[in-house]
Amino acid sequence: MSADKKTNSTDLIIEAMTLADLDEISELENMVFTTPWPRGAFEGELTTNALARYLVARLNKKIVGYIGIWLIFNEGHITNIAVHPDYRRRGIGDTLLQRLLSNAKGCSIESLTLEVRRSNLAAQKLYEKYGFIFTSVRPGYYTDNKEDALIYWKQEMDGIEPTDDWIVYEGEEEAEEEEQNG
Ligand SMILES: CC(C)(COP(=O)(O)OP(=O)(O)OC[C@H]1O[C@@H](n2cnc3c(N)ncnc32)[C@H](O)[C@@H]1OP(=O)(O)O)[C@@H](O)C(=O)NCCC(=O)NCCS
Repeated sequence: MSADKKTNSTDLIIEAMTLADLDEISELENMVFTTPWPRGAFEGELTTNALARYLVARLNKKIVGYIGIWLIFNEGHITNIAVHPDYRRRGIGDTLLQRLLSNAKGCSIESLTLEVRRSNLAAQKLYEKYGFIFTSVRPGYYTDNKEDALIYWKQEMDGIEPTDDWIVYEGEEEAEEEEQNG
């Protein structure tokens, strides 16, 4: 079911993450993850990592979720997905992942991979819903509690409508402007 139906709103907007979003993203990241990425990591992704693409989901202007990927030749590596705890089970994760898959297919990505904690059943269900298959384990991968990482791959992109509207954040311009403005 789409987010529009579940949130009963057509106001969910998916767009490229920008530097202006990073206060909200950091807050959300700290709320959601036990080992959150520091703000600087997102800043680096937006400004210096040419392989990275990040999308935010905005509901009535508030950021309620985000998703990221690295595009490495014809492979996509999903780096993270998070939905604000108050906005879960409304189809926002669905919408973010669907958009990511369409955009990935639109730029010739043929397979995708990701890691997920063994205990994270909600995320595993989400990935399995979109054809990701559990393939292997990285034992003790997560440093905070030595939890295993499950590696998932999606090897076929059938049924995904490719979109060529991948939103690329033109981070350098904004970063330069910020620098000039002090
Ligand atoms: C995983 C996460 C992104 C899902 O976001 P969401 O907006 O709540 O997900 P949706 O409402 O779009 O649900 C999409 C699908 O995900 C699965 N799902 C989501 N939450 C679930 C839960 N609590 N239990 C079981 N399945 C769940 C279901 O398959 C669901 O499809 P369905 O509604 O047809 O059953 C969200 O729970 C989250 O942010 N978790 C913390 C961060 C995280 O774990 N990120 C993944 C790191 S690998």
